[in-house]
Amino acid sequence: MLFKRIMAITSVCSALFLGGCNDDNNQSSSSSSPQPKQLQPIIIQGALPVESESMAAKLDNVSIETIGGWKFWKGTYKSYPVIISKTRMGMSNSAAATAIAIQRYRPIAIINQGTSGGHDPVLHVFDIVLGKYTTNIGAFRTPKQPVGGGSDSLTWNEAFDVLPDDESDPEPIAIRKFEGDNDLLLAAYNAKVNYTKGQVVEGTIGSADVWNNELDRINFFHTRYGTSVEEMEAASVAQIAQQFNVPFLGIRILSNNITNNGAYDPATGEACQDYVLDVVEQYMKAKSQTN
Ligand code: 5AD
Repeated sequence: MLFKRIMAITSVCSALFLGGCNDDNNQSSSSSSPQPKQLQPIIIQGALPVESESMAAKLDNVSIETIGGWKFWKGTYKSYPVIISKTRMGMSNSAAATAIAIQRYRPIAIINQGTSGGHDPVLHVFDIVLGKYTTNIGAFRTPKQPVGGGSDSLTWNEAFDVLPDDESDPEPIAIRKFEGDNDLLLAAYNAKVNYTKGQVVEGTIGSADVWNNELDRINFFHTRYGTSVEEMEAASVAQIAQQFNVPFLGIRILSNNITNNGAYDPATGEACQDYVLDVVEQYMKAKSQTN
């Protein structure tokens, strides 16, 4: 009787993902046959409604939480606990959404996904970049110029590292690249077979509160930072996730690529969400089988 009750409580917890069930060691143990491991939810972020709502519509057992300006859909996908987060656009919004989500939901991992602009002419609209690296392309120390000396961003050769190991240095100069989590990358590779709208490649995602339309500037980032695509959130999320030790991966579909005349296609937002749900299934399946 008591055993039955404990099992009932466990399954209510797993269905609802109550905050009080956020125990990292919550593996069910008392059954004779091996039970799948209870997992903390995975968070999938999208900045805009077109980058988050189709995933949210595919969850079961959904409840919605709004905290400040940020919306979260809590539910299950193929029985795995998933939270969709609409971060809104840009570095500050995505950082705040990430910090709130980590504190509130104790996620097993975070995927930041959505649309992006190509920096690499070999990539086309609907191709997907897995962020082996994610980097901030909006932080610099500029050269000194006198009044009337003008401004030329192509001479901004010093990247400013906003997360230096040495916090006593007020002008840390380095290109900081956040590495994508290996298990998430593996899941992304396993999900690749289902994606038929373009190629799926590893690359570097560059983030800033800027939409670059200058081809020389884009080429500067592509050659100096190795960027495959640009967007406005992933590096900010990576920076917060790293400080909380939460596994992170950026996954970005090209919605536009002015380096090869790739016109903007809004249907890319949904295609990326569909692919990312497959990645989530692969990742959660693997995690539920390991201990
Ligand atoms: N440059 C910058 N951001 C882009 N996005 C899509 N394409 C680009 C691009 N070429 C994404 C950003 C932001 C919104 C404008 O779409 O991440 O959320």
